[in-house]
Amino acid sequence: MREINVTGAETGSGSGSDELVFFVNGKKIVERNADPEMTLLTYLRRKLGLTGTKLGCAEGGCGACTVMVSRYQTHTQQLLHYAVNACLAPLCSLHLVAVTTVEGIGSVARKLHPVQERIARAHGSQCGFCTPGIVMSMYALLRNNPTPKMADVEEAFQGNLCRCTGYRPILEGYKTFTVEGGCCGGRGRENGCCMANGNGAEKSSEEDTDEATTLFTATNFAPFDPTQEVIFPPELMSLTKGQRSGSLCFRGNRAVWLQPDSLEEFLRLKWEHPDARVVVGNTEVGIEVKFKNMVYPVILAPAFIPELNTVTYTEDGVVFGAGCTLSHMGAVLKEMVKTLPPHQTEVFLAVLEQLRWFAGLQIRNVAAVGGNIMTASPISDLNPVFMAAGCKLTLMDKDGSRVVQMDDSFFTGYRKTTLRPQEVLLSVEIPYSKKNQFVSAFKQSPRREDDISIVTAAMSVTITPGTDVVEDLILSYGGMAATTVLAKKTASRLLGRRWGEELPGRRPCSSLAEEMTLDPSAPGGMVTYRQTLTLSLFYKFYLMVLQKLRAQGVNVAEVGANCLSAAEIYHPETPSSVQIYQAVPEGRSQDDAVGRPMMHLSALKQATGEAVYCDDVPLYENELYLALVTSSKAHANILSIDSSAAERMPGVVCCVFADDIPGSNATGPIVYDETVIARHQVRLSDQSADSDGLMSRLVTFLFSVQVTCVGHIIGAVVADTQLHAQRAAKAVRIQYEELPAVVTIQEAIAAQSFYQPIRTIQKGDLEAGFKQADHILEGEMHIGGQEHFYLETNVTLAVPRGEDGEMEVFASTQSASKTQSLVAKALGVPANRVVVRVKRMGGGFGGKESRTTVLSTVVAVAANKLKRPVRCMLDRDEDMLITGGRHPFYGKYKVGYLNSGKVVALDVSYYSNTGNSMDLSLSVLERALFHMENSYSVANVRGQGYLCRTNLPSNTAFRGFGGPQGMMVTESWMNDVAQSLGKPSEEVRRLNLYVEGELTPYNQILDQFTLDRCWDECLSRSVYQERRAAVDLYNRQNRWTKRGLAIVPTKFGISFTAVFLNQAGALAHIYTDGSVLLTHGGTEMGQGLHTKMVQVASRVLGIPCSKIHISETSTNTVPNTSPTAASASSDLNGAAVQNACETLMKRLELYKTNNPKGTWEDWVKAAYFDRVNLSANGFYKTPDLGYDFDSNSGRAFNYFSYGVASSEVEIDCLTGAHKNLSTTIVMDVGHSLNPAIDIGQVEGAFMQGLGLFTLEELHYSPQGVLLTRGPGSYKIPAFGDIPTQLTVSLLRDAPNDKAIFASKAVGEPPLFLAASVFYAIKDAISAARAESGISGPFRLDSPASAERIRNACSDRFTKLCPPAEPGTFKPWSVQV
Ligand SMILES: Cc1cc2nc3c(=O)[nH]c(=O)nc-3n(C[C@H](O)[C@H](O)[C@H](O)COP(=O)(O)OP(=O)(O)OC[C@H]3O[C@@H](n4cnc5c(N)ncnc54)[C@H](O)[C@@H]3O)c2cc1C
Ligand code: FES
Ligand code: FES
Repeated sequence: MREINVTGAETGSGSGSDELVFFVNGKKIVERNADPEMTLLTYLRRKLGLTGTKLGCAEGGCGACTVMVSRYQTHTQQLLHYAVNACLAPLCSLHLVAVTTVEGIGSVARKLHPVQERIARAHGSQCGFCTPGIVMSMYALLRNNPTPKMADVEEAFQGNLCRCTGYRPILEGYKTFTVEGGCCGGRGRENGCCMANGNGAEKSSEEDTDEATTLFTATNFAPFDPTQEVIFPPELMSLTKGQRSGSLCFRGNRAVWLQPDSLEEFLRLKWEHPDARVVVGNTEVGIEVKFKNMVYPVILAPAFIPELNTVTYTEDGVVFGAGCTLSHMGAVLKEMVKTLPPHQTEVFLAVLEQLRWFAGLQIRNVAAVGGNIMTASPISDLNPVFMAAGCKLTLMDKDGSRVVQMDDSFFTGYRKTTLRPQEVLLSVEIPYSKKNQFVSAFKQSPRREDDISIVTAAMSVTITPGTDVVEDLILSYGGMAATTVLAKKTASRLLGRRWGEELPGRRPCSSLAEEMTLDPSAPGGMVTYRQTLTLSLFYKFYLMVLQKLRAQGVNVAEVGANCLSAAEIYHPETPSSVQIYQAVPEGRSQDDAVGRPMMHLSALKQATGEAVYCDDVPLYENELYLALVTSSKAHANILSIDSSAAERMPGVVCCVFADDIPGSNATGPIVYDETVIARHQVRLSDQSADSDGLMSRLVTFLFSVQVTCVGHIIGAVVADTQLHAQRAAKAVRIQYEELPAVVTIQEAIAAQSFYQPIRTIQKGDLEAGFKQADHILEGEMHIGGQEHFYLETNVTLAVPRGEDGEMEVFASTQSASKTQSLVAKALGVPANRVVVRVKRMGGGFGGKESRTTVLSTVVAVAANKLKRPVRCMLDRDEDMLITGGRHPFYGKYKVGYLNSGKVVALDVSYYSNTGNSMDLSLSVLERALFHMENSYSVANVRGQGYLCRTNLPSNTAFRGFGGPQGMMVTESWMNDVAQSLGKPSEEVRRLNLYVEGELTPYNQILDQFTLDRCWDECLSRSVYQERRAAVDLYNRQNRWTKRGLAIVPTKFGISFTAVFLNQAGALAHIYTDGSVLLTHGGTEMGQGLHTKMVQVASRVLGIPCSKIHISETSTNTVPNTSPTAASASSDLNGAAVQNACETLMKRLELYKTNNPKGTWEDWVKAAYFDRVNLSANGFYKTPDLGYDFDSNSGRAFNYFSYGVASSEVEIDCLTGAHKNLSTTIVMDVGHSLNPAIDIGQVEGAFMQGLGLFTLEELHYSPQGVLLTRGPGSYKIPAFGDIPTQLTVSLLRDAPNDKAIFASKAVGEPPLFLAASVFYAIKDAISAARAESGISGPFRLDSPASAERIRNACSDRFTKLCPPAEPGTFKPWSVQV
């Protein structure tokens, strides 16, 4: 065996062509230096400058990088088009394919593709960062199927995430391409027809003429003509047809890519290089290389080998070449199911069921069946089915082949198989099922779509014909051990027994519970839940088989009607929706855009990939890239840092440590209690020459230096490329002396580890209140944190200007001015030397309010040190690790209430997990306290708030800013009160609702109170009482699925609670051609602020929006800006814009009067020639604000936004999965400036809240290490999580006299309304518990994850899996 020499001298084999030929957007590319480790995404963005394709996660989990790949398949003579994740596609895998990116299908200047136009005009693009990926998923679908069904569209989007829109408008826009959307041309409103939103007059034909229901006009869309699509490059077609592919060989610095073109050569290469990695879809290997630091010096790609890519039909079943993609396998099996007799297709249907929920389409389009088997993951979704079905694998080496049965001896350990190093997997045979064989597969994951399993299972039973006697039984589970396992003991105990009689009894379940055990510390956690699932899934299988036996006429007991729903396989329903808002009054000028559903001004650019985000700024010629070095310990002294190895690595320019900071190392948004880079005093020592004669530096510290969280920045490495910088950063060696860490709130309470002050709001007489009460109850609740998961991670580009210490900083930040001041502080220059520029953000949600400076300051320090531009865009895992998120909260309460349900006394304490610095946490906690009574009047109340100092990365602002946590605890006690009295919760909530003129606990009067109107409209629109009756009936009729219903109000205070922040500035220039350049203090993060500001300016100036442009937010145009936050940006900046524009109008008045028939341009020109200043700034500060905690007086808020939502859900009591059946939201946004944008905010916030309260879980190890660091492990809501029926109504006739043009803030307030889903789930769980005879209040922490739901539905299965005694083991993760 010859050695592989990856530096290029000699490979010993694989002497194929080194020319990679492919096409991008119709242009031929011949690449002679293809690096085996480079992805298509990096190549597109960095080499070709095609920045429309975005990087959101680099792990195939978000779809932002979706492109279409087209390939001519010679053996079938078919042209294949499929969506792929460019972030995982190796560049080298693209030989002879055509890649189409978002830029390749249309542009604003050239011609928009209908796929681009429709998502934009349907308001399906907010921040736009996800939009190109979604556009390309839809485009690929249409290339294959020009008349798709909605189900096809939903399937196409399984691999795409959006954090802003809530998905509804995307589906609505794309429904116009579908059979359903194009069918009726009607005006149906609730029937799921696209025309409900897409067509018709702007005013509805309803009797209520105030109501409008149309957000876009589909009839104006350019028609879609599939014949006009870009053709497959003819040259590529002839290249593919004309020749055999030929072997390929590409060499990089660390790896060589060998792509043989025959099986013989493939086997020979594998023989010569037994350590070579076979790569097909790269969906596993790509993750290993990127995130697990694996290096594979030899890569073997079998893409050209027919034997690995063909499908053969045999007498026993169907044989798939190991390289067949999962999509291909699915298509073949679907066809077979259509034609074969049903008894033969049980296995195929089980495989298809697993494929339905396997990753997203982009992954299935490239991932191979062999890749799934050979990865040998214990949570593989296919391996349990293959094992239960007894699939056969053909393994081969150069000397021959062998066939092995896929049973539990095939997997020999964690990610290990019996395959010999020189062998490859050639094929897998999936057998037909036999008569009387029944097979089912199950997958339970946190999120239904595109998620990895918690437990996955497949079960096969063969029954003696005509009886129900078990002849053979295989129970196969994933997620219960280091490999896929069989429950052999239980299966063998059941052989010869009768299915109908034996199984419902306790014995099989007890046997399974004994056999499927897990160590309480098992990786992945959820131990009790996983064990219970093994029983629950088996029970489902039992019911399914029983039904099938009965259908075959076998004499078995009928499945009780109340158990039928437990045996149903989940099939998603296409969501339908209605949006209602106030119609623009008759006769208003068309030029006045205020109140109209105008499209986001950047939406079209976002849909074509032309919108420029921070990392899309073209590379500067001498630009460098920075990677952070961060602490791996939660609390430790740093004993030494050795950067010598890193500094010697290819491309590295230098390392940056604290002593490179010319100014102050102390930083923080309010209190300077953080370091830019962990502070240290340095002694240079141990200067030594390495073997190359280069001096290396070993930095030793005189004094130990503390890091206070995992992710604490210790330094940075600057190199020529991102890859080089990141690799070198990993080579920096740090020695720690670990110190005790405080990780959880409970630990902080025990250690009394609090920041000061402890806040209190108190009103009334608590003691008297509790005395007056008929009942008193106590309770508690924990609300988990939340990751912002903006699709664009943190990014900064710092460019030294070369003079006077000037630095230009391009940053994705909500706080341009804070970035400016903290960069200036770190650089030791006055603020006037630093310009911060923000064009747009790919989402912010509060996560870019203060924590962005953590990165920006380090990048600026590096740029200053090197006097060269330096850029850094954090990888998703770094971003999640370093930048903190929503504060976890723990609430403890004592409530006193009357028999009627009226609450008369409340004593509540809030504890927030603040992390290792103060950041904005005091204000967050204060807002939680300001919302402790949500919308309810409580006469005697005390709320206390504690900031827990822990060793987690500092938590920070997040949409709602503590309000949702505050109100979540409120709803918990409100629910408890209702449950303890046995009264309907809506009745108790209504009884306690505020009325106009009442005072809040902080003595603010509630005027212009609209909550009661929202409540009544929500009740009637959701037909709440009828629904309640239907839910109760359903619950009586079903044992294992339960429905729940809840209605929840919200009252959200609008203003920054720090008074000084309630100010804003604007600057408006009129140029002599009449065009207006507008700037204001707010930043655009997708929320449509710039669009609204243009609408405001347009109304004041009396000119169309098209004459007004906003280019960016910058600190040299509007100074001292407040962060774009607190939902108040439209109010504040809108008033400042109004002020600036009114000044200009005053200056133009004379010229209008003199020339009343003139045009805008005439007046502007006249004024200019008259030497009038056509530039004006504007300013606004919110009047009469200023709350004082000591005296409990002064106005905390300018006004309140109100809303109410009712939701219905269905839970599967056996698995904990739930369906969001219906949600109705009524939201008071005053007179909406832009109903499309406001409804977008309502829906986006609601879906984010849905994630917070039902899905998103951050897992931390007991040592404070964040374990969930990407979309693979941290699940935000996906397309499939939208309520099946969604109604959003903006309250009509509710002007607000305290904000611009009678509007109201909307960004944050609706988020909490998702609590209606949480409490509907709790309602459903109560119904399940009642079946086991349990009633009364119970604790349910947030999020209501599948695990929590299942565990709370206490029943005979959960009883068989009792949790281990706390304290007797070390859990995998802890509740922080
Ligand atoms: C976003 C995302 C979602 C996912 N979701 C799921 C999911 O829902 N369920 C699930 O089960 N998995 C999931 N996976 C895991 C992964 O996609 C699958 O395991 C996939 O089938 C791997 O196929 P591949 O062709 O991409 O493998 P590759 O990465 O190309 O290879 C994987 C491994 O298989 C070996 N291998 C491949 N072919 C052969 C062969 N012929 N002979 C010998 N060895 C071979 C390779 O050497 C390598 O070790 C997901 C992965 C990602 C990135
Ligand atoms: S960046 Fe590729 S899927 Fe997220
Ligand atoms: S618009 Fe989808 S992530 Fe922002």
